[in-house]
Amino acid sequence: MARIALDVIRDAAPAVLPSLLLCDFGDLKGEVARLAEAGARVLHLDVMDGHFVPNLTYGMPIVEGLRRHTDMPLDVHLMISDPLAYAGPMVDAGADLLTFHVESVRNPSEIAAQIKQLGVGVGVALNPDTPLGSISECLPLVDMVLVMSVEAGFGGQKFNPVALEKLTTLRQQYPDLLLQIDGGIDASTIGPARAAGCDLFVVGSAIFRSGDYGQSMTDLTGAINAAGGKERMGQS
Ligand code: DX5
Ligand code: ZN
Repeated sequence: MARIALDVIRDAAPAVLPSLLLCDFGDLKGEVARLAEAGARVLHLDVMDGHFVPNLTYGMPIVEGLRRHTDMPLDVHLMISDPLAYAGPMVDAGADLLTFHVESVRNPSEIAAQIKQLGVGVGVALNPDTPLGSISECLPLVDMVLVMSVEAGFGGQKFNPVALEKLTTLRQQYPDLLLQIDGGIDASTIGPARAAGCDLFVVGSAIFRSGDYGQSMTDLTGAINAAGGKERMGQS
C-alpha cells in the first residue's frame, strides 16, 4: 500500500500539501473532508517530540485516526530525536512516507535504509542552517528531500530564502529526485520555490488561517502554475 502511495504522491506533483499543525483537532474528520473538497491530494503530518524541537504535537493515534478517514497518502514529517524507534509504529498506524531530520541522527544512510525496509517511502529533511553536504551520503537511498524554509518546530514562521538555493542545487544535480519545501509557504513564496525546482509544497498557516481552504488551494496552485518550473520524469 505505502509504496503505491509514493507513486500517488509523485503523480500529484507539483502539489500543495496541507500541514495538519494548525487544523481543528476537535474535528479531524471534518478537516480531512474539507481539505479533500478544497483539492488536497496528500496530507502532511508534523510529529514533534518536545526534544528534537521545542514543541510537542501528536503521534500514532492521530495518524491512525486520520487513516480511517481518508485514502490520501499520509506524508509524516518526523521532528523527533529517535526516528527509528517510531518508524515501525508509524507505518502500522498508516504512514506512507516517513521523513526524518538529518540533524537528529548520526548515521542517515542506515536510518534511510531501515525505514525503506518497512515498505514505505523515505525522506530526509534538513533545517535552514544545515548544509547540503550533510545529506549527500544518504541521497541515493531516499525517495525525497525536504528542504526546510524555517527552523523546524513551529508553524507561522517567516520564509528563509536559503531554501531556494538548496532546491536549485539539488534540482540541477538530481533531475528526478522528489523535492519538498516546508515553512512560510504562501502565495508569494510558492512561485519562487516552484521556479527553483520544487515538487511538493507544505502549507500550514496560508491555508488554515485563511478561512477558505478552497480559495487558498486555488491561489497557491495558480502561483505554482504561473511559475512554471522544470517538468520531472519525462512529463510534458
Ligand atoms: C514546521 C512544520 C511545518 C509547518 C508549516 O516545523 O514542519 O509543516 O506546519 O507551517 P507554515 O506554513 O505556517 O510555515
Ligand atoms: Zn512539516
